[in-house]
Amino acid sequence: MVTTPLKTEKRLSLQTQEIAPQTTVIRSLDWDRDRFDIEFGLQNGTTYNSYLIQADKVALVDSSHAKFRETYLALLTGLIDPQKIDYLVISHTEPDHSGLVKDILQLNPKITVVASKVALQFLDNFVHLPFERLQVKNGDRLELGQGHILEFVSAPNLHWPDTMLTYDHHTQILFTCDVFGMHYCSEALFDEDLSKIEPDYRFYYDCLMGPNARSVLAAMKRMDELGEIKLVANGHGPLLRHHVTELLTRYRSWSQSQAKAEKSAVIFYIADYGYSDRLSQAIARGITKTGVAVEMMDLSSAEAQEVQEVVNRSTALIVGMPPLTGEKLKEITPNMATILAAANNQQWIGLYESYGGNDEPIDPLLTKFRELGLKPAFAPIKIKQTPTENIYQLCEESGTDLGQALVQSSKIKQLKSLDNELEKAIGRLSGGLYIITAKKGDLSSAMLASWVAQASFDPPGFTVAVAKDRAIESLLQVGDRFVLNILEEGNYQPLMKHFLKRFPPGADRFAGVKIQTATNGSPILTDALAYLECEVVSRLECSDHWIVYSQVSNGRVSNPDALTAVHHRKVGNYY
Ligand code: FEO
Repeated sequence: MVTTPLKTEKRLSLQTQEIAPQTTVIRSLDWDRDRFDIEFGLQNGTTYNSYLIQADKVALVDSSHAKFRETYLALLTGLIDPQKIDYLVISHTEPDHSGLVKDILQLNPKITVVASKVALQFLDNFVHLPFERLQVKNGDRLELGQGHILEFVSAPNLHWPDTMLTYDHHTQILFTCDVFGMHYCSEALFDEDLSKIEPDYRFYYDCLMGPNARSVLAAMKRMDELGEIKLVANGHGPLLRHHVTELLTRYRSWSQSQAKAEKSAVIFYIADYGYSDRLSQAIARGITKTGVAVEMMDLSSAEAQEVQEVVNRSTALIVGMPPLTGEKLKEITPNMATILAAANNQQWIGLYESYGGNDEPIDPLLTKFRELGLKPAFAPIKIKQTPTENIYQLCEESGTDLGQALVQSSKIKQLKSLDNELEKAIGRLSGGLYIITAKKGDLSSAMLASWVAQASFDPPGFTVAVAKDRAIESLLQVGDRFVLNILEEGNYQPLMKHFLKRFPPGADRFAGVKIQTATNGSPILTDALAYLECEVVSRLECSDHWIVYSQVSNGRVSNPDALTAVHHRKVGNYY
């Protein structure tokens, strides 16, 4: 293995190694990737993985991010004379994988780009160069010689509509780009240490793939036809070699549980316009937290039939604003007309601006949907500046509000169906009264908690159960820091009342509350009896809650004579 550190302000390095006969990985290691996409929430950096297959014909599978331009190209040209590259296989056109396509084509204009129909359309829009092309569809094969036969697998919506996977029948490697990836940067090339990577693997799935669960299952069904997969050569994080079956099975079971949801929402976005893609992901994440299934559809590449079918099967429609003029508008106009024609008065509607510089105004479109009888699920999301973390939080919380509105009636029915004696018995489980407060970057949140229990002496730790659809859940990922504020018997009402309020999406939970700042950056409630500064160590999925185990580094009691407020309940089917 060769590792080449680069002298830049941000830590960037490259790594290359042969992973199978005639097959070499080039990993661009981005140790300090900023968190501007929601799937980077765990802040462990990321990698961009590219692959070179040197058989009789030479194929490069994906490239790298433009920030690695000089070094990646130097390394690539050290491995192979660019004039010898026959094919550039493009799995997906987002710039973290295709950022150097133009540079590679400039080095050798004779290279044939191999990609899906949609990927070729997207490439034309940003490469602005004529290039040789081979459009492939599911099941198509390409022979490279020496036994290497590439077979392409259509995987639309993972994570863009352009995505395809590539299977080499000789090495039994599946090249997957975003799919089965994770934002985890380390020198470890493979997945030998599962416990280290699994929180990132899950978080990445939840953000990027969960909203496309049905598409994940469809792509995995196609993968089943390929034969044994010995290695998953993904586009982000360590490659999967030691736990391939386990990690693929997780995708399948997470997707099955998302896809079986009774209600679903569709988000219409425009993959390559403004921030439509990122904002739609944040809304989708908020919706999936409530157990409602989401389908994402790119308005510029979807067929009218698909649009009509997805509108017909969805309880809620969310639409990112398209541009007001230009070529993109022409691509999108027929699909917008189909949405309006297929929408019905039993549905909910949510609109958000794309911040693409030329967005159609949001209010007239909302008026049209209202006239058709659709109910607004959240206030239109209007964006006046480059989206910040707060805007993404607003999107996520708006999505959660929408999801909660959709499942409200079935939740009430479910609660009523519990056995009366059983629910009274469970109600005898008691807890204390606590408020969890967290701050991460510009984001902050809080939640009243009662299901808290000490779980370890050394180091001191406890668990707290957090409902999956709580806004603060996003700030309680492994490695996140927060404060547990312990409320005082006889003196908890004002704080409890404040934090029990239903806050609108994006609202400041701390307005009007006395706070101080803990050493870990989270708010301490001045009127609480005691506080503990904590860090999340692990999370256990328990049906509708996450059990979050955290270790405590610091704490203080303000009134040693006071007792903790106790929360007694009569029934166990709500808090
Ligand atoms: Fe890693 Fe969707 O790009």
